[in-house]
Amino acid sequence: MSALSKVLQGPALLPIIQAETPSEAVAIANAMYQGGICSVEVVLRTTKALDCISAIRTQIPQLLVGAGTILSKADAQAAKNAGSQFLVSPASTPNLLQAMLDTGLPLAPGVSTPSEIAMALEMGLTELKFFPANLSGGSPMLKALSSIFQQVRFCPTGGISQQNLSEYLALKNVFVVGGSWVSPAKAVAEQDWTLITELSRQATALALQLKQAA
Ligand code: 3PG
Repeated sequence: MSALSKVLQGPALLPIIQAETPSEAVAIANAMYQGGICSVEVVLRTTKALDCISAIRTQIPQLLVGAGTILSKADAQAAKNAGSQFLVSPASTPNLLQAMLDTGLPLAPGVSTPSEIAMALEMGLTELKFFPANLSGGSPMLKALSSIFQQVRFCPTGGISQQNLSEYLALKNVFVVGGSWVSPAKAVAEQDWTLITELSRQATALALQLKQAA
């Protein structure tokens, strides 16, 4: 299994795509790509999410596409079958971690406590999603964790925006930052792809200044 940080490219950003249809997903992904984004996470929170992953893979092959909100073995397998190139979960249990590992895909399982981090480490995982980042202590919490878990690097997600992005990107134990702020639900509903490109461009500019993916 490759580490997620090794397959990500470009700015250290992993925006979320939540789409109702494959064509909507492709439009969002394309708007992000035009704004400099190289990797996206399609969350499994809509009935067509798996089809959205396949459609983006086929129509924008330059993008790296992963699946988020993986909550079961079935989700992990279905995401792989749909063409996901990596997996992200909001939570960690031994069964869920094993199911994600069994796919052989790069992964970032979700944690928010030292005990969950220790459990992930016991299973050999050192790249983890920190979720929900802002509500779980934000960048001060990640700083506190860095001295204890020196080998762990995080993808903070949850409550991140252009306003607080730089405080996360500045941390050594952050390898990529995730979130939905570049594709606001209102912009998606109004098909305002220009706004999504502009928000992606702003985030990309900041990220390239502070950090690039490996
Ligand atoms: C996730 O799926 O990781 C979160 O819903 C993203 O949180 P945000 O919408 O606050 O960025």
